[in-house]
Amino acid sequence: MGSDKGILTGKKILLGVTGGIAVYKAVELVRLFKGLGAAVRVVMTENACQFVTPLTFQAISGEKVLTDLFDPASELAIGHIELARWADVLVVAPATANTIAKIAHGIADDYLTTVVVAATCKVLVCPAMNTKMYQNPVTQNNLELLKGYGYCVIGPGKGELACGDKGPGRLEDLEIIAEHVISALTQKSLEGKRVLVTAGPTWEAFDPVRFFTNPSSGKMGYAMAKIAWRRGADVTLVSGPTWLDAPHGVKCKKVKSAEEMCDAVVAEYGDTDIVVMAAAVSDYRPKHFTPSKIKKGEDDVVLEMIRNPDILKKLGSAKVHQILVGFAAETDELIENAREKLVSKNLDMIVANDVSAPQAGFRCDTNIVKILYKSGEIEELPCMSKEDLASEIWDRIENL
Ligand code: CTP
Repeated sequence: MGSDKGILTGKKILLGVTGGIAVYKAVELVRLFKGLGAAVRVVMTENACQFVTPLTFQAISGEKVLTDLFDPASELAIGHIELARWADVLVVAPATANTIAKIAHGIADDYLTTVVVAATCKVLVCPAMNTKMYQNPVTQNNLELLKGYGYCVIGPGKGELACGDKGPGRLEDLEIIAEHVISALTQKSLEGKRVLVTAGPTWEAFDPVRFFTNPSSGKMGYAMAKIAWRRGADVTLVSGPTWLDAPHGVKCKKVKSAEEMCDAVVAEYGDTDIVVMAAAVSDYRPKHFTPSKIKKGEDDVVLEMIRNPDILKKLGSAKVHQILVGFAAETDELIENAREKLVSKNLDMIVANDVSAPQAGFRCDTNIVKILYKSGEIEELPCMSKEDLASEIWDRIENL
């Protein structure tokens, strides 16, 4: 989320808070939304006010909190219909069984439910309640009704609940809620597309505790996968070993070696529309793997290395309808080397970066790239975060 700072600048989020113990988490949610740059207004039910006062939400959101449908002062400042119109997205978090039931049946008997009925924007409902209440068929049916009407139900998470029970019912992780809000506010330009992204380094082992690798962090590939999910794609991420958490909504397959990566990618290829190979695949692996740890001796050791498959080249030669995007990591002759890879691997586009430049390449949070197209065109992009760069690259892939 840190890298998404300001991503919701200019967006308006209306947060509806209903009465459950998770109300205290909703305060943090307001901070999270504000940190993403959004303007936030809060509507609370009477029961929510029993847990945390409106004053707390007012202090964090910087806006008067709306609670009473018949308060003349509030209606004068912004009417409930106007508020529903104001919102780009409406998030009900936490949503109690009671409020879910009311929304599912069109009951509008307080400020929040009246605004929900009047809203034409996307509404995200984040249930939070005791496990038994959540599993009650009435609640389950109500949630199905909501989904059928086009509401987006997020969570709940599983775990220990305030009442001591264990199971589903916790308010979904706040970062996941925020991720869904970002997605709801993102144009679905990749809807219906199957996207395959590779990321990270590969490990080429020569005994059980040692391997050859490179310093790739996986950040660029993970950012590409995350942005594709936000734009509505069905995303599979094949990742070499990294410290990163898989982006929300993305199917992540973990691999170690180039051969494992190759198998995982080839298995997905037929059904894929767009492949983005951001992984730093090792070109060689040790010829022999010793099943026991190699002990040191007096003599030097010579290890024989053999070629790994060139995954992207393989995909390029089997290309049918797929769009293929590669990344070129270079230290010299950036354009010439990248162009040679674009042609020899039958790519549609290659993103070339000088990995020896400061603020670019492995492990950096930023990157400076040139994009080369099949048409011969070359485009130079300024230094930017890998997240911003991922959006720029997707804009260009969509244009292909
Ligand atoms: N790639 C691949 N399989 C390999 C090596 C690279 O699929 N065995 C992919 C990378 O994921 C990247 C592109 O090919 O998208 C270019 O990778 P890069 O390491 O820059 O170039 P190589 O083709 O390995 O050539 P060289 O190392 O000689 O520069």
